[in-house]
Amino acid sequence: MTTHISPEQLAGAIVAPATLYVCLTCRQPGDEDAEPRAGARLHAALSEAATAQATGLTVVGVECLSNCKRGCTAALTSPGRWSYIYGDLDPATSPQSILDGARRYQSTTDGLVPWRERPEIFKRGVIARLPAFLQPGAAS
Ligand code: FES
Repeated sequence: MTTHISPEQLAGAIVAPATLYVCLTCRQPGDEDAEPRAGARLHAALSEAATAQATGLTVVGVECLSNCKRGCTAALTSPGRWSYIYGDLDPATSPQSILDGARRYQSTTDGLVPWRERPEIFKRGVIARLPAFLQPGAAS
């Protein structure tokens, strides 16, 4: 079941905890020699913004999510919800849209945010989605 909520409802919605894994080692085209790397800059910006906004989102840095050609890369997951991998993220322009998309994701019961409600970077940058983890014996 997909939950549909308006922007007004979203502002006061109860959000579930979620984790955003951000690749620290991603580089961007034209920015290959920059230090810290673009992925590390994205992680820092997201960590700071998520903490400041008390989003219920834990931002975790990881090394390589196997999407190196479309970095920067992040993966969004939460218990009982679909998980997503996003690419083509920009450390300078993407953090607030990522947090907006994560909040919409956290406000669903299953992780399926209606297409029209997804931030543009999530529409353009989705690489893959994975179903929720099933406990052993749960599948029929
Ligand atoms: S270096 Fe970021 S996905 Fe591989």
